[in-house]
Amino acid sequence: MGRMRTAVPRATRTSAGRVRGTGRCRRGEGLRLGSGLMDVLIHLFVGLHIIGIAALLGGFLTQMKAMGQGTARFVPGMLHGALTMLVTGVVLVGLNQAQDYPLDNIKIGVKLALLIVILGLVYVKRDDEKVDKSMFGVVGLLTMANIFIAVLWT
Ligand code: HEM
Repeated sequence: MGRMRTAVPRATRTSAGRVRGTGRCRRGEGLRLGSGLMDVLIHLFVGLHIIGIAALLGGFLTQMKAMGQGTARFVPGMLHGALTMLVTGVVLVGLNQAQDYPLDNIKIGVKLALLIVILGLVYVKRDDEKVDKSMFGVVGLLTMANIFIAVLWT
């Protein structure tokens, strides 16, 4: 009689290179107990990260007409969105590292550098009723650059 084979669920690798586990901790596979819950937490923070982009970019888009007339201002949502991006981005780095998921440190460094410029400009000028056309445009361009860096840099 042949040996019975037990079906052991296998870990799979997602397109982003992450190991999507079964939650079982097996030696040598880099899986941790509870990794399913951690994956949910990571996805929740990606969702919050995207809400941050919506606030920052959305605020910019509402001011585009005014920007053409030189009367645009950094609306509060842009500052809150930029802060949300920073906080959720840092949390995402921590959660991914805790799970030993690979992260592209150069890509994240570039996103962080551009976001610091955005945050600095929006923070300093947050109470100004009118912001110079070019400065306002730079914030929009850097935000869009960060979005394309996030999705195209693989
Ligand atoms: C305006 C600034 C930013 C934009 C527009 C942006 C955009 C995005 C987008 C669209 C995603 C989901 C797609 C993906 O997984 O690649 C993402 C994921 C992520 N972002 Fe950002 N991000 C910004 C700033 C930051 C900052 C400052 C950090 C860290 C300090 C950060 C860290 C991360 C991490 C760790 C992930 C998920 C891991 C991964 O790359 O798969 N982001 N970001």
